[in-house]
Amino acid sequence: MKRKLRMGMVGGGEGAFIGAIHRIAAQMDGQMELVCGCFSSNPNVSLRSGRSLFLSDSRIYDSYKEMFEQESRLPENERMDLVSIVTPNHLHFEPAIMALEHGFHVVLDKPITYNLEEALLLKQKVEETGLILALTHTYSGYPAVKEARKRVSDGDFGRIRKIYVEYPQGWLSEKVENSGNLQASWRVDPKRSGKAGCMGDIGTHALQLAEYISGLKTTQLCAELDTFVDGRQLDDDGAALLRFNNGASGVLMASQIAAGEENALKIRVYGERGGLEWSQQEPNTLILKWNDYPSEIVRTGLGYMSGIAAHNTRTPGGHPEGYLEAFANIYRNVALTIGARLEDQEPQPEWLDFPDVNDGIRGMQFIDTIVKAGYDEETKWVKFPDEPNK
Ligand SMILES: NC(=O)c1ccc[n+]([C@@H]2O[C@H](COP(=O)([O-])OP(=O)(O)OC[C@H]3O[C@@H](n4cnc5c(N)ncnc54)[C@H](O)[C@@H]3O)[C@@H](O)[C@H]2O)c1
Repeated sequence: MKRKLRMGMVGGGEGAFIGAIHRIAAQMDGQMELVCGCFSSNPNVSLRSGRSLFLSDSRIYDSYKEMFEQESRLPENERMDLVSIVTPNHLHFEPAIMALEHGFHVVLDKPITYNLEEALLLKQKVEETGLILALTHTYSGYPAVKEARKRVSDGDFGRIRKIYVEYPQGWLSEKVENSGNLQASWRVDPKRSGKAGCMGDIGTHALQLAEYISGLKTTQLCAELDTFVDGRQLDDDGAALLRFNNGASGVLMASQIAAGEENALKIRVYGERGGLEWSQQEPNTLILKWNDYPSEIVRTGLGYMSGIAAHNTRTPGGHPEGYLEAFANIYRNVALTIGARLEDQEPQPEWLDFPDVNDGIRGMQFIDTIVKAGYDEETKWVKFPDEPNK
């Protein structure tokens, strides 16, 4: 790449969660720099937030509409190349469409949009413009997850039969949305979150991880969604049985009321000969399990890891990488891909390994399907026979 890419941001102002993570990730490898932003719907907060990042006032905008219009008028060697959109779910579609229409590549956080219709329109726009839209399903950015996917696709375990993916968090166990928790307040509001709560927020990550590692597609599911905290309108817990396109079956569980849990995403995938296990809270370790052989512990940063895992690793064995690096892997691959385009070159296959609009559509299809199945009491629950008299 001959120069750094110039990035703008929508969202991620004072008090926000994921915007700061995106900024660190985007700039970790020195391939991108933040040049402008609209960090809040409140112009004063946007200005304060931009100034705290040492942006010049002329590149801190009052609205994302203004940002796309002004940036597209700047000389080519100044204007941003891509925008990172890190707003609540109901504010993904409009800035993403606007960015593409003004000629900017997009990095968007999940779930891709507020509903499936918007996601399909976004795909149309991506195809029409030929621009890149990356979706930050962070967990597919970890080197151990890349290794897991490679080993499955190499056939190490034989045909995949069973997938268990679980994603328990505990931070919504109490009604924190009533005590000023910014992140909780929009996540439990159907007008801003979408038709699912927990399943949209973290269930989509679990499904994407299962499909990414296994290379399979879910074809059917049967589910239960629950709301445990009184007064909430959306699910804060749920589980589904999954069927995959090769005949494999699976179990997906996601909860934000699993009191005491932090971010305990874990996946197990089993084939005919063996299986694998990966836990997000121990991300540099991949456990391989065999029917006729003791389990193996595979660690990132060591010479025996595959090329795709090595490409997504920065530090040698024993020097832990984690969430920020997994995010940065998505950004680095996006940067390498955009860089190749700027030089009229073909991107290498491993650079194209980042989630995109199609993963986003899968996520929205998952939300629609699990919401439909999750409240269907009639056809799903079979009553246990009465206990015989003692
Ligand atoms: N990939 C991941 O692991 C991951 C993790 C957390 C959140 N997310 C996703 O990231 C998105 C943001 O989540 P969060 O927890 O950071 O939310 P947040 O509430 O902490 O931050 C949202 C930000 O958007 C800003 N904003 C709202 N309206 C705006 C507007 N019109 N113009 C400009 N800025 C505006 C807010 O001021 C705030 O700064 C969500 O879609 C969420 O699902 C993804």
